Amino acid sequence: MSGAGRLQGRRAVITGAARGIGLAFAEAYLAEGAQVVLADLDQARASAEAARLGEGAHAVALDVTRQESIEEAMDVSAALMGGIDVLVNNAALFTAAPIVEIERADYERIFAVNVAGVLFCLQAAARRMIAQGTGGRIINMASQAGRRGEALVGVYCASKAAVISITQSAGLDLIRHRINVNAIAPGVVDGEHWDGVDAFFARYEGKAPGQKKREVGAAVPYGRMGTARDLTGMAVFLASDEADYVVAQTYNVDGGNWMS
Ligand SMILES: NC(=O)c1ccc[n+]([C@@H]2O[C@H](COP(=O)([O-])OP(=O)(O)OC[C@H]3O[C@@H](n4cnc5c(N)ncnc54)[C@H](O)[C@@H]3O)[C@@H](O)[C@H]2O)c1
Repeated sequence: MSGAGRLQGRRAVITGAARGIGLAFAEAYLAEGAQVVLADLDQARASAEAARLGEGAHAVALDVTRQESIEEAMDVSAALMGGIDVLVNNAALFTAAPIVEIERADYERIFAVNVAGVLFCLQAAARRMIAQGTGGRIINMASQAGRRGEALVGVYCASKAAVISITQSAGLDLIRHRINVNAIAPGVVDGEHWDGVDAFFARYEGKAPGQKKREVGAAVPYGRMGTARDLTGMAVFLASDEADYVVAQTYNVDGGNWMS
């Protein structure tokens, strides 16, 4: 366990933590001494993972598209851990389609999770952090997709650009309460999410299964796709005391794909 204790005593809620990047963050936070709530729509999987992770890990049902669910999940999380110091807004959905084929229902589904979900989870956590009076940390998961548009990914790219913008506004508004809001912009991270992305490109670009993954991995300056573990250092840093003076920023952790 390297660097143990950098998050000693912190109480963290991670949305969408039943798998992938959120789950890797939960493991990393626990290793640094935090308590963690894995808050996910997939409650069965979140519960199984929390049980596997052991002491300090909890699972809570959460649908980020429903305000009652957000309020209940935050209240249950605070009760389980004795408060909330850190929120990682990680739950998101991906979609792809040529601009002329985008359907309003799909746009609304994606924005309900990726944008409204982020904003209202952030708000619910911030309200509780302000009431606690001890400050806090909010980390939003953006994406390189929020840095520029992509021909077949208009809706998802727009949703992640909105996450970067919300991070800036919330970061500026909440720092007076000593709540630091920042974001991480990953590049291409292998896992179930990218299995789905690969399938979209197989459909729209006629690629063989796995081909898009190989192409994007080869194009990363580092030389391969990222893994969830590649992101945990930044997630721990932003939740730690070391990031106290870091406000309203979005950090690229993408093997060199994007520079800003
Ligand atoms: N994987 C990548 O290449 C990549 C790249 C850039 C950014 N990101 C971002 O990182 C974050 C995590 O990505 P991942 O690859 O681990 O994704 P993932 O699809 O593997 O996991 C997402 C999790 O969110 C949960 N979820 C979905 N809808 C929900 C809802 N309404 N309420 C609560 N939970 C819900 C799912 O059940 C799942 O456990 C996302 O915000 C994603 O956009 C990922």
